[in-house]
Amino acid sequence: MNKPIFKCSDISKTFTQGKNKVEVLKGINFSLDKSSRVAIIGPSGSGKTTFLNILTGLDTPSEGKVFYNNEDLNKLDEKQKAIMRNKEIGFVYQFHHLLPEFTAIENIALPILIGGLTKNKAYAKSLDLLKRVNLENRANHKPSELSGGERQRVAVARSLSNSPACLIMDEPTGDLDSNNARLISDVILELVEEFKISLVIATHDTSLSRRMDKTFELEIN
Ligand SMILES: Nc1ncnc2c1ncn2[C@@H]1O[C@H](COP(=O)(O)OP(=O)(O)O)[C@@H](O)[C@H]1O
Ligand SMILES: [Mg+2]
Repeated sequence: MNKPIFKCSDISKTFTQGKNKVEVLKGINFSLDKSSRVAIIGPSGSGKTTFLNILTGLDTPSEGKVFYNNEDLNKLDEKQKAIMRNKEIGFVYQFHHLLPEFTAIENIALPILIGGLTKNKAYAKSLDLLKRVNLENRANHKPSELSGGERQRVAVARSLSNSPACLIMDEPTGDLDSNNARLISDVILELVEEFKISLVIATHDTSLSRRMDKTFELEIN
């Protein structure tokens, strides 16, 4: 039987701002099998980003538990969680978050170097990934010298640089026109399939969410 890579039981999240309490997530139960793909959908403000942050230990739930590969995230300290994210999880956001002073290939190599590989190996792997997103001829371009779609393809390549077990994407096509959105979706789905990666995508893009194995809907409380 397929084991879950993520499991959440009875997650709630309330933000407190001064006297105001904002209850964003309430009684969320969620499970994702290894190598399967889920779209997190729901209107803006329904808590998609908050949920992704909780799933990856960047934020903690007010109530409930999150398990990654059966490990209770609450039992890991911040350093252990940071190591887990570097080794296990790739991230892509709506805006690429590439480092502006670094070239495409340097941006991709950075997480690999942080993970401890040699410079030669890191750059060889980064070039392979650039080829996979059809950008090997842009290896030495900085983000400002790339189009929006190209930047997002570099971000996808970077998210794969440490061979993650799971990709977390927060509206990865949200800032792209429909042609580029389609191109990015194709590349993501092709690589996820090939490398047997689990995929969690928060998206408003129905042409993308329809291509997932399932959807998980959040509502505004
Ligand atoms: N750090 C925070 N402090 C207070 N409120 C927050 C914080 N982060 C998010 N929120 C609130 O939680 C709600 C959900 O936000 P978010 O998770 O970003 O939704 P989505 O990604 O679905 O648009 C919003 O109303 C937002 O204002
Ligand atoms: Mg969001």
